[in-house]
Amino acid sequence: MTNWLQLDKEYLMSAYPRTSVAMAGGRGCRLYDVNEKEYLDLFSGVGVNVLGYGHPEIIKAASEQVEKCLHLPFHFLNPVAIEYAKRLVDHSLKDGKVFYTTSGAEATETTLKLIHKYRNITNEKRDGIVVLKGSFHGRTLGALHFTRQEGIYQDFPYTSIPVYEVEHEDLEGLERTIRKESPLAIMVEPVLGSGGIYPLSGEYLKSIEQFCRQYNMLFIVDEVQSGMGRTGKLFAYQHFDVTPDIIQFGKGAGGGTAFGGIIAGARLYDMFSPGDHGTTFAHSPISTALGLAVLKTLIDDGLMRKSYEMSLYLNEQLQKIQREHSYFIEEVRHCGMMFGISIHDTNENVKKLQLDLLEKGMLVDVTQGNIIRLLPPLIITKEEINQFIDQFLACILQPLIVTGGV
Ligand SMILES: Cc1ncc(COP(=O)(O)O)c(C=O)c1O
Repeated sequence: MTNWLQLDKEYLMSAYPRTSVAMAGGRGCRLYDVNEKEYLDLFSGVGVNVLGYGHPEIIKAASEQVEKCLHLPFHFLNPVAIEYAKRLVDHSLKDGKVFYTTSGAEATETTLKLIHKYRNITNEKRDGIVVLKGSFHGRTLGALHFTRQEGIYQDFPYTSIPVYEVEHEDLEGLERTIRKESPLAIMVEPVLGSGGIYPLSGEYLKSIEQFCRQYNMLFIVDEVQSGMGRTGKLFAYQHFDVTPDIIQFGKGAGGGTAFGGIIAGARLYDMFSPGDHGTTFAHSPISTALGLAVLKTLIDDGLMRKSYEMSLYLNEQLQKIQREHSYFIEEVRHCGMMFGISIHDTNENVKKLQLDLLEKGMLVDVTQGNIIRLLPPLIITKEEINQFIDQFLACILQPLIVTGGV
């Protein structure tokens, strides 16, 4: 039998922590390993597989597009990409325009370059970005600094953009920072994702928007994790009456392919001139075709609404478990199909709980050491939720035996 773990160690860099499970493929909300063991996926490939595995709309869109072409250079108009941008804009900023990228981190990079240009063009003195403690906006480091071609780098000199960190929901701290530092923008995840699933309150988001208008700052929402219907709206900010200047998207937006981008409002979208920014894989025909299939399923076929109802059911079940085992489960937080289950135990035991669940065929993530994060595919059914709840209950008793509780 092939030793995939050994081969992985031999040929792939060990930048990612991983288990020894080698996956072969999936169907619906299930994944199958190379030994044909079945797993219920409560994490959708870090939130990417919003329609699960082998969804008929994805297969149809992929097959049709593969017949035509997988890639086209950005030099040509690309009807599929244009159509997708129109749908994204119609369902968000209305008067916005899209820039496509190939990842969430690149969406953040695009935002940084765009607001840098805005600052230059408008002679704005404000500088720097306020972010939330525990936020996640990507992992890239700065390729442009090493690109030496006339016309590409001059307008974007390497600057370490000042960054100001504030606690979420601390409005006084935020206003203090704004008054003291004169930042240019505030960038938030409407639901802090890998920070532990902390949904921002409507009051807080509204105040951020008001500060942005009052102090002439830009309001950026990073919806890479919370977007694409995951919270019951196409973008999580839409739960409240706020309008950002930039929306970042990624993960499920490419129907399972590497994809992302930003939607910028009227104040910003004309800041880039041709040549200012780009990527070889811009306007990917395959990603945008799959993205259109995702939007059709979420919006036209009503999956977004159904999955929100299902998220309320999952929340009910988890809250019940929390109440009954409050010595072990501190809190369950959710916004649609984003769940954070804070565990009162050592990080080691939470890891063990995750491995116990894996053993029982349940895939969950652990973030921040002690928070179980669930980002289920939006197609998850009541039966599948019940199956998870049964296994979760069975497992949470095990670490208590080991630790005696905390
Ligand atoms: C909110 C948010 N922004 C940006 C990113 C980075 O996306 P990517 O991993 O596609 O670069 C992530 C990834 O998890 C994310 O959750």
